[in-house]
Amino acid sequence: MSRIAYVNGRYLPHRSASVHVEDRGYQFSDGVYEVCEVRGGRLVDARRHLDRLDRSLSELRIAAPMGRAALTQVLKEVVARNGVKDGIVYLQVTRGVARRDHAFPAPGTAPSLVVTARRADPAAQERLAEAGVRVICVPENRWPRVDIKTVGLLPNVLAKQQAKEAGAREAWFVDAAGYVTEGSSTNAWIVTTDGRIVTRPAESGILKGITRAVVMEAARALGLVVEERAFTPQEAYGAREAFITAASTVVMPVVEIDGRAVGNAHPGAVALELRQRFHAFAEVT
Ligand code: PDD
Repeated sequence: MSRIAYVNGRYLPHRSASVHVEDRGYQFSDGVYEVCEVRGGRLVDARRHLDRLDRSLSELRIAAPMGRAALTQVLKEVVARNGVKDGIVYLQVTRGVARRDHAFPAPGTAPSLVVTARRADPAAQERLAEAGVRVICVPENRWPRVDIKTVGLLPNVLAKQQAKEAGAREAWFVDAAGYVTEGSSTNAWIVTTDGRIVTRPAESGILKGITRAVVMEAARALGLVVEERAFTPQEAYGAREAFITAASTVVMPVVEIDGRAVGNAHPGAVALELRQRFHAFAEVT
């Protein structure tokens, strides 16, 4: 089945799908995005992802490209046309196409909407979760509005590449006060030696992950204690477990941070249980 992308009202062959060179996403990273998990051909937590999209758009004063029901339909259509059973659907909205000027274009300029979908290999993901992943810590160097899911991801790109070159899967940003904020494309968690689950509050410094919210719900329902507070890399080195969360990886155990084994260097029981139970708490559309 050949891949299809949705671009501004049209379903096009993925290989030739494109936006204009003066799209403000391309010129200025003037846009926002969402990544939603697809499982069994259905959208996971689409409602919450679209709520967050609305918030990102309104923070940047970008008009919604279409209503909620129509957008959900486009997401489903792209998933179906690409035959994606398990994978992700990606959507991006930019402030549209206009002559290159930093200030906003004329009122009425249509926002651009792109939607793509991609298959994942669930077996490979499971193998990765059984082995666990490595993380490195890097200095936080992003702008303060990381609560907005903007396509401006250069520090994230550089951090992820640094992790890759160090043989790791993710980079955790560490702020000026010495606390972990989040990963380059994931939220960061530890489990303390007395079994408490710790993740940074979403008031500042991180993207308020949808997976994070569902994992919190799942953890509490399983009788686990969740503490929303910042933690340092030093605390993480000595933690019983660590893990990362995102729509693209759900819950992924971390077994090494900055070359130091976490716990017994194997995926932790809490992380694996949360991974296994996650979809019982997520919404499907
Ligand atoms: N990333 N923090 C950052 C910086 C992220 O980019 C993401 C998601 C998350 C987790 O959010 P959620 O649980 O809602 O997926 C946290 C997506 C998957 C990406 O950029 O591909």
